[in-house]
Amino acid sequence: MPNDIFTQAVHAGERMPQPDFNPVATPIYPAVAFTYDSMETMDAIFGNERPGYVYRRYGNPTVNAFEQAMATLEEGAASYATASGMGAIHGALLAAGAKSGARILASQDCYGATYFLAGSLLTQMGVETTFADFTDPEGLQAAITKTRPHILICETVSNPLLRVADIEAIAVMARRAGAALIVDSTFSTPYLCRPLNLGADYVVHAATKYIGGHDDVLAGVIITSEENRQRIFEIEKNIGANISPFDAWLALRGLKTLPLRMRQHCENALAIARWLESFPLIHKVNYPGLESHPQHALCRKLYHERGFGGMLSFEIADGSQEIAFKFMQALKLVQPATTLGDVYSLVLYPAMSSHRAMTPAERERVGISDRLVRLSVGIEGADDIVADLEQALEAAV
Ligand SMILES: Cc1ncc(COP(=O)(O)O)c(C=O)c1O
Repeated sequence: MPNDIFTQAVHAGERMPQPDFNPVATPIYPAVAFTYDSMETMDAIFGNERPGYVYRRYGNPTVNAFEQAMATLEEGAASYATASGMGAIHGALLAAGAKSGARILASQDCYGATYFLAGSLLTQMGVETTFADFTDPEGLQAAITKTRPHILICETVSNPLLRVADIEAIAVMARRAGAALIVDSTFSTPYLCRPLNLGADYVVHAATKYIGGHDDVLAGVIITSEENRQRIFEIEKNIGANISPFDAWLALRGLKTLPLRMRQHCENALAIARWLESFPLIHKVNYPGLESHPQHALCRKLYHERGFGGMLSFEIADGSQEIAFKFMQALKLVQPATTLGDVYSLVLYPAMSSHRAMTPAERERVGISDRLVRLSVGIEGADDIVADLEQALEAAV
């Protein structure tokens, strides 16, 4: 090492010889660039002839660890992580062939930003998008026959109405039509459902939600075949919607407790949905775990009887936006916040946030009324959540 303090300050301690220890938990590699002993090795990595890392937009060991974990949990061949759930949905749509002249058939009550991306942004670039009710098999088949889509996109369980899609049946229809099927499984997570095993081509997650689980990471991930992953890589390495290694590390850590958290989310949500259904100030509860839910049996099958998820929505009797806001403000334990899938219980008013991009008429058509509130049930004690909901409802109505 030269003895110039300027050189020492820059290089001392860096690029130490590779140790023979193996950290139990994956380290965070923030390095943007990686160097090798020989230029030939670097050349081979740039040319995809051997695995390795050269530049963070092309790949990173911490990100790769998260991707491998997700591929394992979803029983997929490969996975690609992105900076957000929307980054994953965008990447999957592009890889599945969204380009000028392509036709997308999307679920009519999909997440608001997906609705805007498929129905507005991509259409400005020459994609044709049609929306259909993916929970109505006959209507969906008719829409496929009519629009001859190249891509179908839906959610396992829709947001915020908790309608359940029969992924297996939809995958058969997609295959018959020669269309790629993208399934957003954010609400379900691999704990409850593995859409690739049911015939989906791409599974996407907003890992921001249950996978991260702690409200401290924005992340997305696509799980698919090796071939599709390569296609996504070729697109994304030029777009640059990559996840940071810090966020990938948090998402990977979140995964460790995913099954434990999901078990608690499911138990709590069922108890709360049953309580809400019996509470006089509530008009309607949307939760697939309730026998009153029109797709209760389908959800049981889709989720292999492991539970029914941690999300529910409900309408306050004689409610309005004003009453919903009063209720949300009166909550003490449950937080009014624009996210879901956290350890914390959270409420959201879809017409104000996730579905704001829809016109009131569009919201009305898909059933998102002004009295609808969405609840992401956390992992606190169920009795404490119920007590908070009860006092806030009584204060609001
Ligand atoms: C079902 C679903 N998909 C995708 C997204 C987008 O995720 P992100 O906010 O990480 O981009 C969300 C966000 O709430 C979501 O609920």
